[in-house]
Amino acid sequence: MPDPTTAPHASEPVAFPQDRSCPYHPPTGYDPLRTDRPLSRVTLYDGRPAWLVTGHALARALLADPRLSSDRTRDGFPTTTPRFAAARDRRLALLGVDDPEHRSQRRMMVPSFTLKRAAALRPRIQHIVDDLLDAMIAQGPPAELVGAFALPVPSMVICELLGVPYADHEFFEEQSRRLLRGPDVADTLDARDRLEEYLGDLIDRKREEPGEGVLDELVRQRPADGGPDRAEVISLAVILLVAGHETTANMISLGTYTLLQHPGRLAELRADPALLPAAVEELMRLLSIADGLLRQATEDIEVAGATIRAGDGVVFSTSVINRDQDVYPAPDALDFHRSTRHHVSFGFGIHQCLGQNLARAELEIALGALVRRLPGLRLAAPPQEIPFKPGDTIQGMLELPVTW
Ligand code: HEM
Repeated sequence: MPDPTTAPHASEPVAFPQDRSCPYHPPTGYDPLRTDRPLSRVTLYDGRPAWLVTGHALARALLADPRLSSDRTRDGFPTTTPRFAAARDRRLALLGVDDPEHRSQRRMMVPSFTLKRAAALRPRIQHIVDDLLDAMIAQGPPAELVGAFALPVPSMVICELLGVPYADHEFFEEQSRRLLRGPDVADTLDARDRLEEYLGDLIDRKREEPGEGVLDELVRQRPADGGPDRAEVISLAVILLVAGHETTANMISLGTYTLLQHPGRLAELRADPALLPAAVEELMRLLSIADGLLRQATEDIEVAGATIRAGDGVVFSTSVINRDQDVYPAPDALDFHRSTRHHVSFGFGIHQCLGQNLARAELEIALGALVRRLPGLRLAAPPQEIPFKPGDTIQGMLELPVTW
């Protein structure tokens, strides 16, 4: 059996996660991990050790390996913040279940998130984006782009798609914020309770009178015919609502910040809008906003000269994996002409992002409209003074003051 102490991952474990010092680059504290591919030991916030996967090929192999579980309720499942640890006994649909339960939940959801469905939503997304920009332009500069644009675009889109009233957006955006970044564990649990209660009430109303959204389609499928029960619909609704707006909002805000910090690339995009899909994909790779995917080994796994033991926590750093220079030459550069194939910013394997077609459509339309309609767009504060999110949550800007 290989001796783990002589393997390249035997260097002193670094702490994971850490805060970024530049919002679109991995924390400088991860530098040793970048030279120590493809597997390292890290120490989590609670002092527990875990494996950190940092090599691209190994990441794709392990993310597709059924010996790694996503079931957060398992004993010893790794957590990167006390907030996640607190919610571990709560049912988390899709992301938190393994096959065969995962397969049956995913099968219920896939028809609502196909490429075709996302393409059909494009005119509506364009309309939402144009209305928000009209209002922002009418108000005149400066503007705070997270509140005026980056958050409302995906929030409105996911509301329409799911059949959640956008009038309630302040409530569920606040609960999502507390869930993902609340001050303490009690706050996180309270946010989860309130969100579940709200969605439970909404689902009960839909059972009486179903409408057009994805949640309405779910309640139409009766449990007696193999459809989801009430608790399962609530659990699906929580993840769809939270994942459906928080992530894309962060990509819009951080994507805009990154473009404004790369004026040459921005000019290139302005001159040639056909570059948009490639630009979105490259921003997805570079920004790696969901940095730290969590799994637990259910059996011993021999990889990269090491043995991952049954029960060990395995964490995937997407920011480091997406900068594997064997796959992406000059990995820190923003380059719209490189091949971004197989980046792992949407994950890989059975849990690969359900909303990726929708997210791409939203990002292309939102960033495309910003670039086209606001040729003078620039930051309204020194870049180093603009606050961004800490390392233990999805990465993005807390605020984005802009002018034009
Ligand atoms: C740019 C925005 C987005 C990013 C970066 C992103 C990222 C990710 C990642 C990395 C995963 C896999 C997590 C893991 O394997 O542990 C994932 C899963 C998921 N995402 Fe997204 N996501 C985005 C947008 C969306 C949207 C718009 C939705 C809409 C509903 C969504 C819904 C989901 C769901 C339901 C899962 C769980 C899928 C499963 O377990 O089968 N995401 N996402």
